[in-house]
Amino acid sequence: MVFLVVVLLVARAIYIPGDFGIHGTFTYNFYRQANVTEWQSVPVKYQGRSYCGSCHQRNYDLIMASPHSVIQCENCHGPGIGHPDTVKKLPIGNSRQLCARCHTYLPYPASGRAVIPGIDPGAPHAPTGMECYDCHNPHQPVPLPNS
Ligand code: HEC
Ligand code: HEC
Ligand code: HEC
Ligand code: HEC
Repeated sequence: MVFLVVVLLVARAIYIPGDFGIHGTFTYNFYRQANVTEWQSVPVKYQGRSYCGSCHQRNYDLIMASPHSVIQCENCHGPGIGHPDTVKKLPIGNSRQLCARCHTYLPYPASGRAVIPGIDPGAPHAPTGMECYDCHNPHQPVPLPNS
């Protein structure tokens, strides 16, 4: 019994980091203090669109005046970390899947998702061989093209 307790105490001393304990007034204030700075130094992947707008003014102005103003640039172009310094260009996804992920018609009228206008992302709306952006400007999806 005494042996077990000693083993436990030794293991505790070895495995629990020195800065683990009660810190500050946070409700669950048992934590490892160094963890705070570790999280603070994790680089932020997403920059937000005012950052994008500082260089891509035209795209920014267009989209902000459109129904797509609710979507962040990085939702379609991916995280802006390192761009333009090390990542010269962000990807442009031209696929139908990019749009279909939000605009595929779903038969659930009561859901919040139903406020996004839905279409059947295949033919006849989008004939084979055509991409959505051939007819719709992603940064200015309205006015709709004439049918
Ligand atoms: C400091 C200026 C600057 C900022 C801020 C910036 N970009 Fe760029 N971006 C550039 C430059 C320069 C290019 C390269 C343009 C070229 O070669 O035609 C570029 C290229 C791109 C491209 C590729 C264009 C193409 O024709 O292939 C996309 C997409 C893009 N940026 C999106 C974004 C998004 C989204 C953000 C915000 C996360 C952003 N950019 C922030 C300067 C910037
Ligand atoms: C709904 C998805 C979507 C959003 C949101 C979006 N883009 Fe785009 N973007 C695209 C697509 C698709 C293309 C390619 C269009 C084409 O080839 O005609 C594109 C092209 C571009 C290009 C290269 C062509 C050009 O117009 O210069 C840049 C730069 C760009 N986007 C920047 C931005 C910025 C900045 C924002 C936010 C202010 C943004 N985009 C928001 C989908 C999007
Ligand atoms: C992240 C979700 C999302 C993505 C991705 C997206 N959209 Fe949208 N789209 C929306 C929302 C939200 C609206 C505005 C709905 C509203 O009127 O409240 C909208 C509006 C539109 C409209 C206007 C419809 C109308 O009747 O007013 C068109 C057209 C459109 N989008 C086309 C596209 C195309 C083309 C793409 C791909 C380049 C695309 N969208 C990608 C969410 C998205
Ligand atoms: C050949 C041109 C063309 C292509 C390609 C095309 N659209 Fe359209 N889209 C239209 C026209 C025209 C309208 C307006 C008339 C209508 O509602 O059919 C429209 C309307 C819409 C609307 C609004 C529907 C509503 O109920 O208000 C959405 C959303 C939309 N398109 C998304 C897309 C998406 C996503 C793609 C790619 C999968 C796409 N479109 C491809 C021509 C096109």
